[in-house]
Amino acid sequence: MAGRLAGRKILITGGASGIGQATVASFATEGARVAVLDRDAGAARSVAESVGGVAVPVDLADAAAVERAVAEAAGALGGLDGVVNAAGIFHGEGLADTSAELFARTLTVNLTGTFLVVKAAAPFLQQNERASIVNIGSGVGLTPTGPGSTAYVASKAGVIGLTKVLAFELAPKVRVNVICPGAVETPMTAGFLRGADGAIDPAIAGRYALKRAAAPEEIAAAILFLTTHEASFVTGVALAVDGGRTFH
Ligand code: NAI
Repeated sequence: MAGRLAGRKILITGGASGIGQATVASFATEGARVAVLDRDAGAARSVAESVGGVAVPVDLADAAAVERAVAEAAGALGGLDGVVNAAGIFHGEGLADTSAELFARTLTVNLTGTFLVVKAAAPFLQQNERASIVNIGSGVGLTPTGPGSTAYVASKAGVIGLTKVLAFELAPKVRVNVICPGAVETPMTAGFLRGADGAIDPAIAGRYALKRAAAPEEIAAAILFLTTHEASFVTGVALAVDGGRTFH
């Protein structure tokens, strides 16, 4: 099959929904064979089936299960050329309302989950010369928009730091980058992005130079670029795809 990822074997966590799902569709269109790792087994299966890929249900909070799931995905695909870590959870609570359990849970899924997937996938990725990992951080991991989302912001800043050290550790065979999206219209943001009138909350839109939220496909396009060999000299980068919120 032709395409910018022809014949590439890519594992995508969080591929059952939102940004991950858009990435599965875009990568499959570009000729990749994908494995969808997600705790939502039914959605993972239907997304994977829609592109002839493989679904591997897993909860990233379960370290032993993650190791097994990554090995299963690599076995089913016949190796791994790339990983996209798009699974994540959001909590908007500020410091006073963030319990130790909520903080730990958020870091476990968003940060430790990313670490576990990379650790299990690295031996497979290092078997080829052009491998790539793209993590999904967040614009708030670069610069918070204000108070709140304490655990989430900490987890995403952690993903950015993790990405940079991994870029050293996995070079030269594996490039490692992190995308930092602004607000994206996905199930994660469905509860607060749009007001009762159906319009994007002006307080949120107003933070962005482009005055709007992104579609998941706009984030998937940047993930695609970083995964292809077009980005062959790009590693350790935290790329803001945020409609111009964090540049000023
Ligand atoms: P989403 O909620 O649509 O999709 C997240 C996926 O991760 C779901 O399929 C879910 O089942 C999976 N997941 C969650 N916890 C899991 C676990 N413990 N084990 C396995 N799978 C798990 O969210 P969305 O918006 O597509 O987010 C994707 C990534 O982008 C997340 O890391 C999120 O933090 C990040 N992000 C999203 C933004 C937005 O505005 N939507 C902005 C900035 C970053």
